Amino acid sequence: MTVSLAGNPVTCDLPPLPVLGRDVTVPLVTGGEVTYAALDYAASAPALQRVWDDVAAYAPYYGSVHRGAGYLSQLSTELFEQSRATVAGFLGCRPTDEVVFTRSTTDSLNLLAAALPEGTQVFVFETEHHAALLPWQRAKGARVTCLAAPRTPEQAVAALDVALHGAPKGPKLVCATGASNVTGELWPVRELAAAAHRHGARIVLDAAQLVPHRAVDIGELDVDWVAFSGHKLYAPFGAGVLAGRPDWLRDAEPYLAGGGATRTVVRRADGEVEAEWQESAAARHEAGSPNVIGAYAIASACKALTEAGFDRLDEHEAQLLTLLRDGLAEIPQVRVLSLFGADADRVGVLSFVVSGWNSSHLAAALSAEHGIGVRDGLFCAHPLVKHLLGGRPEDPGACGSPEDLSFNAVRISFGAGTPPEHVTRFVEALATLVREGASWTYHTRNGRCVPAPSA
Ligand SMILES: Cc1ncc(COP(=O)(O)O)c(C=O)c1O
Repeated sequence: MTVSLAGNPVTCDLPPLPVLGRDVTVPLVTGGEVTYAALDYAASAPALQRVWDDVAAYAPYYGSVHRGAGYLSQLSTELFEQSRATVAGFLGCRPTDEVVFTRSTTDSLNLLAAALPEGTQVFVFETEHHAALLPWQRAKGARVTCLAAPRTPEQAVAALDVALHGAPKGPKLVCATGASNVTGELWPVRELAAAAHRHGARIVLDAAQLVPHRAVDIGELDVDWVAFSGHKLYAPFGAGVLAGRPDWLRDAEPYLAGGGATRTVVRRADGEVEAEWQESAAARHEAGSPNVIGAYAIASACKALTEAGFDRLDEHEAQLLTLLRDGLAEIPQVRVLSLFGADADRVGVLSFVVSGWNSSHLAAALSAEHGIGVRDGLFCAHPLVKHLLGGRPEDPGACGSPEDLSFNAVRISFGAGTPPEHVTRFVEALATLVREGASWTYHTRNGRCVPAPSA
């Protein structure tokens, strides 16, 4: 397929994997309808058609997991455990690693935070998503060191090295992202893991934005845990994953107290209830009825991505990124946000600001006038976005009114189901808005910038 951008023909393949919603049309505030361009994969990616089909095929056989004698309960239990094995294979887990199904990356990192040994020192960069930045502050007896945003991957490794070198004895954990949800830039995971291990620390990889785009091998990266969410991996059925070393998890109190996490429960003579908990990390921390559909959907997505091949997915995404960056370069008012510089390796996630525009206004106009879905705001990474925009940590930043040029940005993100014309359409719509202004009036309702009702 050939698409043209500013007169330069660019050849792009069709998207490697079909997703749901390809033909959905949305109304425009200016009249008429248009096919929706979903360019907010970093928030939640559309479901893969394959995932949807697999879930639909299984749905009639749905039954309780780990707690039923019936045929469908047995089948569902088998499917749930097979899904665990598929995820372990997808992540290249070591033989002793365990996969715990959670609700999301946020849930996975909170689970690990709740399992930290007493007095663990945690090291994070201020650039993290809030899900990777905040859970540690709540961990019992943990001490958190928040490192300043580095300007290069090498600086990140050096800063971590220095911080760990000066840390007192005791358990230590580093939490690092694989790919930034703001800039899309890749972090030097292998090198950070090596630095962590050199100083006797463990490392958990927030792979929420990495797993949908790049092959992640836990053994090869030599990280201790990996966390990710199904809904960013084309499997939006409410499940997530924490995979890795079982020891801290086995030694910890169960994340949730309830059925499934227990071996025996007795009422003692003194009236107290006493539980003996399961030993395996998964059983111990998956109390309650497991989300078998969510786990199966993640396993289905893992298989689909593996079969498509990450080389092919990378190539597709690289083509889309070239289209996007060449297009943005033609609009001088655009400033792309970057920590590591223009040449940094990145996934299909890019944030920018446009001089003279409030980002919420721009995102609202892209949606209402062009049928393009992007994200605006600070992307649950307030310290990073403010840093990139030259703000002070205490500066406010939120989705504001069209007149308020507060700290926020626009983010476009895409992946395996994105056709090149969506990116082309986005660039053309942005250029039109910047050149001619919005053709509608916008106001703020419930904290969001939205089209004002017509007079
Ligand atoms: C890098 C990163 N980590 C963690 C999360 C949290 O993911 P979830 O909302 O699925 O828990 C996100 C979500 O945007 C993310 O981008």
